Amino acid sequence: MRSRPRLLFEGHDIFAATPEIKDDSLEEKPLFEVSDLFAPLAKNGTPPYFHRNPPHIKFDFDQGSPSSEVFPVADLSRISDEILARDGKTALDYMDPNYGYADITIGWTPLREQIAGFVESRNPGVTQSPDGIIVTNGSVQALALAATAYLSTGDAVFVEGASFPFGLRYFQQTGATTFGIAMDHQGLLIDSLADAIAEAKSQGLRPKMIYTIASFQLPTGTVLPLERRKQLLDLANLHNMLVIEDAIYSPFRYSGEPVTSLYSLDTEGRVIQSDSFAKTVAPGTRIGWMAGSPEAILALAMVRQDLGPNQWVGRVMEQYVREGLMPAQIQRSIDNYTPKRDATAAALKKYCGDHVTFHTPDGGFYFWVELEDGIDWPLVQAHAYDRGIAMRPGEMFSGQTNGRGFVRLAFTSPSIAEIEDGMQAFGASIDATLAGERPSIEPTGYAKL
Ligand SMILES: Cc1ncc(COP(=O)(O)O)c(C=O)c1O
Repeated sequence: MRSRPRLLFEGHDIFAATPEIKDDSLEEKPLFEVSDLFAPLAKNGTPPYFHRNPPHIKFDFDQGSPSSEVFPVADLSRISDEILARDGKTALDYMDPNYGYADITIGWTPLREQIAGFVESRNPGVTQSPDGIIVTNGSVQALALAATAYLSTGDAVFVEGASFPFGLRYFQQTGATTFGIAMDHQGLLIDSLADAIAEAKSQGLRPKMIYTIASFQLPTGTVLPLERRKQLLDLANLHNMLVIEDAIYSPFRYSGEPVTSLYSLDTEGRVIQSDSFAKTVAPGTRIGWMAGSPEAILALAMVRQDLGPNQWVGRVMEQYVREGLMPAQIQRSIDNYTPKRDATAAALKKYCGDHVTFHTPDGGFYFWVELEDGIDWPLVQAHAYDRGIAMRPGEMFSGQTNGRGFVRLAFTSPSIAEIEDGMQAFGASIDATLAGERPSIEPTGYAKL
């Protein structure tokens, strides 16, 4: 029998153990305690990790932002001017009277047509109806709408053992129970998924949804192999579940061969795919979408109450895609990120090599780095903080504080020189920890910085 590779994560009740984060910025008490008035969701929520950044962020490996070097400022500015000159009045309104309320519930029809074409280009074999596209305020809103539309108390949702916290929060807020599935270096383990489905059923829960970032998974960078994708869909079919495929990182492949998307492989219309222009064009567009069958997407429109996406930027993006600018923009990004990926791998090996393990990802925005057993991870974080390194502790994605130190390093936004110097400073933080040096701030524990 083949032995199993070392797991990145055991299956677990994801975020059950998310450590409480103390927000020092609230320490000066106002005359009345506004927090007394917080609803339970706000009371139990955790302030964002990055509320307490290092005093001077010299090396920002924290935020998964695209590089501003590739933001297409000139094209967006030109197109925006043209649109305001051409149809400023309707571009600035809630909706276009030519299309009516569809604009508010699922987005401007010409934009949905362009997105449908883009979705087809990224998912071979798919014929995408524009009515199966809902345009959202970033793809996080698409996840939020899907959660509201499909989940409630008594449902079970299955996610990778370390995953995208901003999406997961929405799933949990519905009252559904979230199961984190064990992963190895190729993504989630299908037999663990099958076990979790059985476990959910034995608890009287209804297995309802699988949420997966199958390509260049956040935070681990893993790519689910074709065979596992098929097995995942078999399980979804068998148990009558919906699958959300978060495809936001899939265009960013720097090496290796593409793997067919779940959306392409689906034969039953049970996969819906979230994506956005945030990583390919610019996060500030805040234009994302969910693609699926018109029937599946209708449910998202039925729970939408925000008076629609940004009509102005939506029109800019419609023209941007219609002018055929997307392929070159994606290629520009890949050309910018490939050497940064390679520089990060080389610098990690050079400066931290004895104390960390990592797999160089074939794509995406992140390295998922594991610290050698026995190194005091909170202390490394405190030393890194002193050196102005912003990075995301692994437990922010998994809720696990089992002593294994993981860090997610985002490499797309810093320059190559910053990557080199930042990794050197990260190595120095590990060395200072091993040498027993004290950092200027008290190490506060997992995730707390
Ligand atoms: C996995 C994943 N999904 C969705 C998003 C959200 O992107 P958007 O800007 O489209 O809301 C992000 C952003 O970092 C992400 O990492």
